Amino acid sequence: MTQDELKALVGQAALAYVVPGSVVGVGTGSTVNCFIDALAAMKDRIAGAVSSSEKSTERLRGHGIRVLDANTVDGIPVYIDGADEIDHAGNMIKGGGAALTREKIVADKAERFICIADQSKLVDTLGKFPLPVEVIPMAAAQIARKLRALGGQAVLRHGVVTDNGCHIIDVAGLQIVDPAATECEMNQWPGVVTVGIFARNRASVCLLGTPEGVKTLNF
Ligand code: A5P
Repeated sequence: MTQDELKALVGQAALAYVVPGSVVGVGTGSTVNCFIDALAAMKDRIAGAVSSSEKSTERLRGHGIRVLDANTVDGIPVYIDGADEIDHAGNMIKGGGAALTREKIVADKAERFICIADQSKLVDTLGKFPLPVEVIPMAAAQIARKLRALGGQAVLRHGVVTDNGCHIIDVAGLQIVDPAATECEMNQWPGVVTVGIFARNRASVCLLGTPEGVKTLNF
C-alpha cells in the first residue's frame, strides 16, 4: 500500500469516532484532508466543525460542511488530526503544515484527540522530525539562539507567514526525551506563540495506517 492509501484508510476509519449530532474538531494536513473528504458523507449528521486552519476551512466548506467560529463552541467530544511524529505514549510533534497554534487551540477544546497517521509517523523518541515553533517575528532571532543553546539547529522557515501573522522556526537535532517538560519550558520564552510539542494535549487514540490495516493504539 502507498502512503496515500494508508492516509485514506485512517481518514475513513476516523469517522467511527465522530459523535453524531455533535461538533467535530478538524485538524490540518494531507491525512486530515482524507478525513474531511470522508466526513462529507455524514455532514447532515453532525452539528458542524471547528477548523484549525484556513486550508481546512476551505476544504470543509467545499464539501458543504458547516464551519463554526471557535468562540461560539464550548467543548467538543473529539478532535481529529494528523501528526508529524507520535510516540508510544501519544505525545506528538505537529506543525509541519504551520497550523500548530490553531491546532493546539482546537485540541484543547476537545475531550479526546484522535490522531490519524500512517505507520511512518510512529517513533520511540520525538525529535527526528524538526520541531516547529511559532514565534512573534521580532523575537525570532532571540528564540533561535535559545534553541541553539539546547543543542538544536534552528532555521527560520522562509517565506512562511502563519494564519496568525507569525513566523515558524524549525529545530532539527533535538532528542525530546521528556516532551511535557520541554513543551512547558519553551512555552515560557517571551515571543513563543506555540511549541509544536503536543504533550499536554497528547492523543488519546492513534489510528495507525499499516499494510495490514488500521492499528488502534489507546493511550
Ligand atoms: C499541520 O500543521 C501539522 O500539524 C499536520 O497535522 C502534520 O504536519 C501532519 O500532516 P500530514 O498529515 O500532511 O503528514
